[in-house]
Amino acid sequence: MGRLLVVGGLNMDIHLFGVRESATQATLVAESHLAEPGGKAGNVSRAAARMGVEATLVARVGTDDFGEHCIEAAAGDGVDVSGVIRTPHHNTGFVAIDLQEGKHRSLVFSPGANDRLTWADVAPHVAKLTPDDIVAAQAELPPDTLSALAAELTARGVPLFLDPAPPERVRRDQLLSADAITPDLEEAARLTGRRDSSVLWTEAAARELRAAGARRVILKRSEHGAVLLDDDGLREIPTARVKAVDETGAGDVFLAALAVSRLDGRDWVDSVRFANAAAALSVSRIGLGLPDREEVDALVRRLPEPRLRGS
Ligand code: RIB
Repeated sequence: MGRLLVVGGLNMDIHLFGVRESATQATLVAESHLAEPGGKAGNVSRAAARMGVEATLVARVGTDDFGEHCIEAAAGDGVDVSGVIRTPHHNTGFVAIDLQEGKHRSLVFSPGANDRLTWADVAPHVAKLTPDDIVAAQAELPPDTLSALAAELTARGVPLFLDPAPPERVRRDQLLSADAITPDLEEAARLTGRRDSSVLWTEAAARELRAAGARRVILKRSEHGAVLLDDDGLREIPTARVKAVDETGAGDVFLAALAVSRLDGRDWVDSVRFANAAAALSVSRIGLGLPDREEVDALVRRLPEPRLRGS
């Protein structure tokens, strides 16, 4: 079985639930909060390792307590953290997440040490990969580092699964190099310069992104499931109906599960089904809510069948 290399962001997250608005400069008050290690790459690597895949994380943290918590959490889930570099004079990345009814209302990202991750940090890990392996990345690392990674993976024939988030940091050459991109509707709208991010626009969004160069587009539509568009046409792949309590990290769990399933040898449709189920379990739990493989397999068996919508 191939291995997963995950490159990108490692942050400390503060989830704020039920923040009350204020018309003045008065203090905003949250009903409750949760502090836990996050960051898109940290989340993907932990989710994949929990599902039984050999996962290596390449990232940068500061030399602070937050960084140590992030490394301990990943190592505790079985991730190989030998590629995580402690960076003197920089803080570990930090994210404050304002959640209303389980959905993100706003998110403040302070990249800190994430912005120091260079291609020289990543290259030794890429040199060990074969085309049987997969690399998962998002855009929480410097764009030049991501572009160098994407170009090298193309040259070596190693698949890149790219979650284009945050979309403001994504470049066209990175989309072109990816074997699969996994935006949500909001990210797809930003990437294609549209204002409308409603589910009505799904098909056009997928086609526009594919025309922009992505080989395979997997568009995540929350409770409406995902759309998969590649050379075999466009398929709607439903998900489970769950009560969403915290969507944080669900996209990362989706990306991890997609990679796990592909490393297992399943086809793209079955892999998106598996990823949908994993993400549904994650949103139904407070915090990151990482599922085990058995739970995901059990939920997959209850999902409706995919629908072909033509090429
Ligand atoms: O995708 C969720 C992640 O995005 C959070 O863990 C947060 O750190 C932000 O980077």
